[in-house]
Amino acid sequence: MNIQELKVTAQRLMAGDKGLLAMDESTSTCNKRFEALGIPQNEEYRRKYRELIVTAPGLENSISGAILFDETIKQSTADGTLFIDILIKKGIIPGIKVDEGAVPMAGFPGEKATEGLDGLRQRLTDYYQRGARFAKWRAVITIDEGIPTDTCIKTNAHLLARYAALCQEAGLVPIVEPEVLMDGTHTLEQCAGVTKKVLHKVFNELYQQRVDLEGMILKPNMVLPGLDCPVQPDTDTIADATINCFLESVPATVPGIAFLSGGQSATLASVRLNAMHVRFDAIMPWALTFSFSRAIQQPALEIWKGNDQHIAEAQKELVYRAACNTTARRGEYRADAETVV
Ligand code: 13P
Repeated sequence: MNIQELKVTAQRLMAGDKGLLAMDESTSTCNKRFEALGIPQNEEYRRKYRELIVTAPGLENSISGAILFDETIKQSTADGTLFIDILIKKGIIPGIKVDEGAVPMAGFPGEKATEGLDGLRQRLTDYYQRGARFAKWRAVITIDEGIPTDTCIKTNAHLLARYAALCQEAGLVPIVEPEVLMDGTHTLEQCAGVTKKVLHKVFNELYQQRVDLEGMILKPNMVLPGLDCPVQPDTDTIADATINCFLESVPATVPGIAFLSGGQSATLASVRLNAMHVRFDAIMPWALTFSFSRAIQQPALEIWKGNDQHIAEAQKELVYRAACNTTARRGEYRADAETVV
C-alpha cells in the first residue's frame, strides 16, 4: 500500500470548493430513470447520456472526481475517445463503483447486504490499470419497525471495511458509503440515532481491518426525517443534526466527507450543504462536500430526454447544478432565484 499516493488522491478529490459527480448508476437504475422520461433503455442511449455528461463544457470547474460504472469506464464518445481519457484530460479524477448491488439479506426480512467481494482484488487491479484512482461501495440501511438490526449494521460495516482494505492495497482511495435511506415515516431523531450507530460500527470495522483513515473518503447520508414523516424540520435543524452526528462519530483524520443526495431535490441538497458550511466551517475537522448523482443530474436528464437537440441545454443545466454545490461549499449559495422544493 502506498499511503502517500492515497493521501494525495484523497486531498485532490476534496480540494478547494469542488465535489464529486456520481455517474455510476447501474444499468438497471439508469434504465429506470430513462423509462420514467420515455428515453430508450439500451446501451447506446446510456452511452449518449454519459457522453453528454463527460463532455459538458466547464464541468471540471466544479467537479474533482467522477464515479463511473463498469459499462461506462469502457465506453467512448461517438468519435472514439474513451470517456476516462476525457475526464483525465479535464483534470477530473476517474473513480469506479465496484460493489455489485445490495441484495436481500438471508434471514433478515426488509434488510439488505451488499455483494461484490468475490474477485474484487483482480477487478481493482484492472480498474487501476485503466486509470481509475478511487472506488465506491454502497451499503444500504433501512429504518422501519424493528430494523435496522445490529446484525445488518455489523454485516454491512464488515463488508465496507473489507472492500476499503482491498482498495488501499490496489492504490485506489475507497469511498465508504453507508446510506441510511430516506424512505419511511421515521423522525429526524431516529435517523440521527441510526446514522451515528452505523458510523461508529463502520469506523470500528475500518480500524479492525487496518484501513488507513487518511486515505479514504466517507460518503454518508445527511441526517433527515423520512420522506413520509409528518414533521419536516427547517434547514438549520437539519444542518445541526447532521454535523453534530458526524462530530460524534467521524474521526478527525478522515480527510473528507462527501454527501450522497438520496432523493432530496437538487435545490434542497444545495441549501442544506450550504447551511452546514455557514454554521460549522470554523469547527469541522474534515472537508465537507458533495458526491451527488440525482441532485446534479436529474434536472439535466429531464431536459435531455434522449433528444440530441437538447444536449447543449442539458449540459448547461448539469454544469449549473454542479456549480451551485461549489457555491454551497463556500457557504454562499442563495436559493432565492429558484423554488426550493
Ligand atoms: P444520489 O445522490 O442520487 O443519492 O446518488 C449518490 C450515490 O452515488 C448513491 O450510491
